[in-house]
This record gives sequence, structure tokens and C-alpha cells, in this order.
Amino acid sequence: MSRKIYIKTYGCQMNVYDSERMARLMAAHGYDDVDTPGAADLVVLNTCHIREKAAEKVYSELGRLRELRDGPGGNAAMRIAVAGCVAQAEGEAMLERMPEIDIVVGPQAYHRLPELLALRARSEGGVVDTEFPVVSKFDSLPLEANAEAISAFVTIQEGCDKFCTFCVVPYTRGAEVSRPAADVVEECRRRVEAGAREIVLLGQNVNAYRGDAPDGGDWSLGRLIRALAEIDGLDRIRYTTSHPRDMAEDLISAHRDVPQLMPFVHLPVQSGSDRVLAAMNRRHTVSDYLRLIDRLRSARADLALSSDFIVGFPGERDEDFEATLSLVRAVGFAQSFSFKYSSRPGTPGSVMPKQIGEKIKSERLQSLQELLARQMVEYQRASIGRRLSVLFTKPGRHAGQLVGQSAYQQAVHVKTECHRIGDLVDVDIEHAGPHSLAGSIAVKSSITPQSLALAL
Ligand code: 5AD
Ligand code: SF4
Repeated sequence: MSRKIYIKTYGCQMNVYDSERMARLMAAHGYDDVDTPGAADLVVLNTCHIREKAAEKVYSELGRLRELRDGPGGNAAMRIAVAGCVAQAEGEAMLERMPEIDIVVGPQAYHRLPELLALRARSEGGVVDTEFPVVSKFDSLPLEANAEAISAFVTIQEGCDKFCTFCVVPYTRGAEVSRPAADVVEECRRRVEAGAREIVLLGQNVNAYRGDAPDGGDWSLGRLIRALAEIDGLDRIRYTTSHPRDMAEDLISAHRDVPQLMPFVHLPVQSGSDRVLAAMNRRHTVSDYLRLIDRLRSARADLALSSDFIVGFPGERDEDFEATLSLVRAVGFAQSFSFKYSSRPGTPGSVMPKQIGEKIKSERLQSLQELLARQMVEYQRASIGRRLSVLFTKPGRHAGQLVGQSAYQQAVHVKTECHRIGDLVDVDIEHAGPHSLAGSIAVKSSITPQSLALAL
């Protein structure tokens, strides 16, 4: 009998990827994906715990689901599962706060979802599984490629040992674990066979990757990228998210040597003040970061950068915040994400003295975001008149329009009748908005400098 599953995903790309894999696992148990929760037999909320707001959103969604299930004319058969980092962090406490939840499952236990459903059917109340099992979920979740993905996410590393003092990830996702290199290469090969032309390697600290290698020993991310570049038909490789401390020389040089490796790096710096960086336990200084950017740009001059920033970390003074603005001006980011510091229970930051008030946090966030937005617009405008290579990934909103990505991770809209999703084409950029570019297919000129010289 066919059943229906609805999965709602919050937070990072890792969750997007995990949701895809849960959907595939449950498909093998007879569950079809649906777009709305109303008639679903199983609703999964794949949650994010990184900031307080993200976690609170989950509780309001749970309230709405409870209405859909228990309200008048509701779908009484609906099972509600909470997955992801809120599940991991709160565990049993979620059932106490909301006994209507059927399953609480942490990010390391998704492969047990069918068993947990069976267990729930036999038990009185909700069931919880937030174990970190010995057998990694990498080995237990199905890998079949999703044929539609032109740009495919592949998780190669999970967890984090860095313990930045604001962050819950080391507690919710556990210690750093890398997938064996041969498994990664095999999955990427399969995804390319199924139509992917771009692979995005994912990890909480992806550049700390150290995977068991086919030849014994282990491979770094730089080494893995060089191996992936051998796969026929794989045009683009990206990776995210990186920590400045783990930016090894062989990864930097891969940006110079491997044409398939895209010239875009998301390299969060969080703050531009050495005092705040130390209090955050980032274990690098501002000048370490700037030197790293120089090395990356020497390897690949056109490299675009993006970063995450936190304003209002405990003890952040005006001059610390000014230093963050200076760093932003010095680097020039193509994109960025910035957040108000959110105190997370159990992290060292939450008990630090000199917590910053909401008003100051909001003011700082606003000035930082204004500066970052100006940089982003400048970066986008500088693309006008350039010829960029674009990989088409989806249809546009208008007829005859396709949307793709430039090498620098900009969305590009193009009107074309003669191309398809999956094509990699040169586009002459004519317009730039803050979030996307538009242009037309480049007309290949048959005049080369040599033929011109001959003609003259
Ligand atoms: N408060 C605000 N932002 C945070 N981030 C992580 N933890 C917190 C927190 N407690 C941000 C960091 C990180 C991004 C994924 O989320 O900038 O790089
Ligand atoms: Fe969190 Fe820091 Fe680890 Fe990133 S490096 S996941 S911010 S602890």
C-alpha cells in the first residue's frame, strides 16, 4: 500500500541532503513524497538548532501540525517525526513539551526511521533515538542518485571538533567524521552518470576532511578534489563550509591546478576583531585570515569569497565591531551571511559576562548588512559586460527562460530556445540585480586573432 511522506527542511545544506536521503530511504518502504502535510501519513521536520529563532520556528510548526492532525476533520493517521539538530539537542525534553510528537530522531540515526515507526506503532507514547551509533549512517542510507539533480550535494564529512564558543554544532553533530574517499568517488561517479554536472561537497568543516584512501593512508580535501576531477562529465566541483584553520596548501593549490574546481570559497570569519576571535575560540587572528585570502587569490586571481559574521558576541565593544567593518572593506565579499549573536544553552558563550543588549545587536547588524549589501551590488555590477560560463539548472519563471549559475555562484537568467537544463554555455552579462544577473547566449565569433592577422 502506498503511503505519503512530507518532509520540511530547515537550516543548512547538510539538512537538505539528509532530507533527500530520508525521502529515498522511505520511498524504499513504500512512501511517496508529497508537497503538503495535510494528507501525509508521516510528516518529518528536519530541524536546525543553530540560533534560537530557528528552534522556535520548529515549535510553531509543530503546533500547526497538531491542529492538522487533531483538529476537526483532521488527519488522525498522521505520524509526526522531528529530525535534525533540535531533535538531537532536546531529545526526550521535546516529548515532554509536546507529547503529540511520535518520533524524535537525531541526525546520526535517520537510517533507523522505519524501525522507529514500527516501534512507535507498538508503544504507548513517542519514541526517541539520538544515539551516535558505531556504524555510520553513511553506510546505511541508500545512495541512489536523484536523476534530476544537475548540481548534486554529496556529504563527505560531518561533525565538528572546533568548539567555537557560540556554536552548538559540536554538541548536536558530534566529532568530525569523514567518509572513505572511495565511497565518495563512487557516489560522485554515480551522480554524474545520472546527469549531475556539478558536485557540491558538503561538511560542517569540509576542509578538515581526512578520508580513508583506497591506497591505504588518508586523503585530504585537496587530494579528493584532484581524484574527482578525473571523472568524465563532471564539469564543476564546489565545497562548503570551510574553516580558515583547515585551509591546507594542497587545497589552495587545487584552486590553481584544477579547472573544474570553481573559483568561489565560503570561508566564515565571524568577526574582524582579534579580541572577539579569541573569545570565540576561532584560533586564528585577523591577519592570519587576510594572509590566507592573499594566498587563495594568488592561486586563483578571480576567486570570489563569502563569509558568515556574528555581531554582538559577549564583550564585543564598538571598536571590535568597527574592526569587523574594516575587515569587510579590506576583503570585498561577493556574498555574505550575518547574524545577531544568539545565546545557545550549553555553549561557553551563553555564560560569558557582558552579554550584549538587543538594541545594540540590531544596530550593528543593520550597519554590517548595509555594507555587505553594497559590496554585493558592486560585485554583481562588475559582471556587466563580462562573458561568464553558466550551468543551467532549472527553468525560469517566464517561457523560454532558463536559470543557471556562474562559476562565482551567481544566479543567471537567460532567454533561450535552443538550450536545455544541464547545458554549460557562455553568457554575455547585460543586467545585474542584487541577487541575480541576466544576459544572452554568447555568439561564438569565428574571428580569432590569428585569422584577423591573416586577413590583414
Ligand atoms: N548565534 C549567531 N550565529 C551563529 N552561528 C552559529 N552559531 C550561532 C549563534 N549562536 C552562525 C555562524 C556560522 C553560521 C552557520 O551560523 O556565523 O558560521
Ligand atoms: Fe560551529 Fe565553529 Fe564548528 Fe563551525 S567551526 S560548526 S562555527 S564550532
